[in-house]
Amino acid sequence: MRNKDSRAITTNMQIVPLNRELDESVFSEALPIIEKPHGDNTEQTLQVDLLDAKYPIYIDFDLAPKIAKFLKNNSLEDRALIVSDKHLAARYGYCLHSKLQQEGLKSHYHELCGGKGNKTIFEALKIIEVLEKNNFSRDATLIGLGGGVVGDIAGLVASLWYRGMNLVHIPSTLIAMIDSSVGGKCAVNFGKTINALGAYHHPIANFVDLRLLQDLPDREFNSGMAEIIKCALIGDQKFFDYLISHKKKIRSRDQLAVRKIIQRTIELKERHVAGDIREGGKRLLLNFGHTLGHAIEMSTQGTEENLRHGEGVSLGMVAILNICERYFGLQKDLVKEVKGLLEYFHLPICFESKEYGFCRGPLLNTCMKMVLRDKKRKDGELRLILLEQIGGAYVKSCSDSDILEYGFESVISA
Ligand SMILES: NC(=O)c1ccc[n+]([C@@H]2O[C@H](COP(=O)([O-])OP(=O)(O)OC[C@H]3O[C@@H](n4cnc5c(N)ncnc54)[C@H](O)[C@@H]3O)[C@@H](O)[C@H]2O)c1
Repeated sequence: MRNKDSRAITTNMQIVPLNRELDESVFSEALPIIEKPHGDNTEQTLQVDLLDAKYPIYIDFDLAPKIAKFLKNNSLEDRALIVSDKHLAARYGYCLHSKLQQEGLKSHYHELCGGKGNKTIFEALKIIEVLEKNNFSRDATLIGLGGGVVGDIAGLVASLWYRGMNLVHIPSTLIAMIDSSVGGKCAVNFGKTINALGAYHHPIANFVDLRLLQDLPDREFNSGMAEIIKCALIGDQKFFDYLISHKKKIRSRDQLAVRKIIQRTIELKERHVAGDIREGGKRLLLNFGHTLGHAIEMSTQGTEENLRHGEGVSLGMVAILNICERYFGLQKDLVKEVKGLLEYFHLPICFESKEYGFCRGPLLNTCMKMVLRDKKRKDGELRLILLEQIGGAYVKSCSDSDILEYGFESVISA
């Protein structure tokens, strides 16, 4: 990261300042809380320290003025290109654009459409054209305003432009807030391969503006919940209990509950990513549910109602939990409880082939082909992430195709 004021970035994952209502003690490991002595400001800042990168994550409502001030104070060059999801232009993008200009920054604006079909190298090249045409240097800032699709494209472009320019994420979906904007991974799909072209590039700051969740469709919100449930499953029993006991508040988007689960999930993700940017060890655990989930997601592409990322993860988690129950002694009750929670958030626990125009047999075959092509395949074996209890995920090499087939069969019905 290259910015003017490195004092803005300090220790490992500190949470400052915060409203006392957000009592962290409900979670397994309390996070440090520094109370703000006066005032009613409830903004929180997570300071992420990943050894290879340090950056703040601000979580609050209406962050546009703060973003403008941050860039003014922290960028080496007073130019920024906002890459915005088209859906957000009128509601957020134009306002941010003018806030940057009010701060004396030279702001450029580029729009693209979210949706997985647009996560392509061609959209990335369009942004590169804007950078080139306007003679951007690497000291300028690229701002990704959108969901995981815009964030991944913006991240990839920022990593490529002169071998790495400043990047700021303003994630606009729940999944982007807790997952794709944290950890530095960015990629675009190519052909039938998810995340085929990618890089690792960290932002100089993330701004999680809770205002952006207000208009997020339920289906997108619920898709983010799959990743949140995943993080609780691999990382924290008390957090999982919190999700169970507060599910009603969360589903109705109670501000405090939503803020709290975002904060906790980011913290858990950071813990798995720290010191392991290239997925050598503990970061792999974040792939819980992903290996089989990606295969189902890719095998069912092209239907009118493509599965959302979180929906694929939901199916992948259920498949793995079924495998864990059948082959590795995971408690039946736990599997039932997780399925119940996923269903509460309208996440799929079974894919009905016919309903989406597929025949079960050929679909199962395609899923198997996809999973064996998975990029995590190593020495002829897949590395599956299994669960022995909540907070107890582990990696296991798997060369037994019966196990994988069972997983798919358990979540794909006729
Ligand atoms: N880099 C990573 O570590 C990582 C992690 C998880 C997921 N991802 C990627 O993220 C993508 C999925 O992200 P996503 O679900 O955010 O998809 P997305 O960006 O396509 O957003 C989903 C939909 O919501 C709309 N939208 C976005 N913000 C909105 C808002 N505030 N209000 C209303 N509508 C809004 C978008 O236009 C789009 O139609 C996948 O491509 C996945 O591979 C990356």
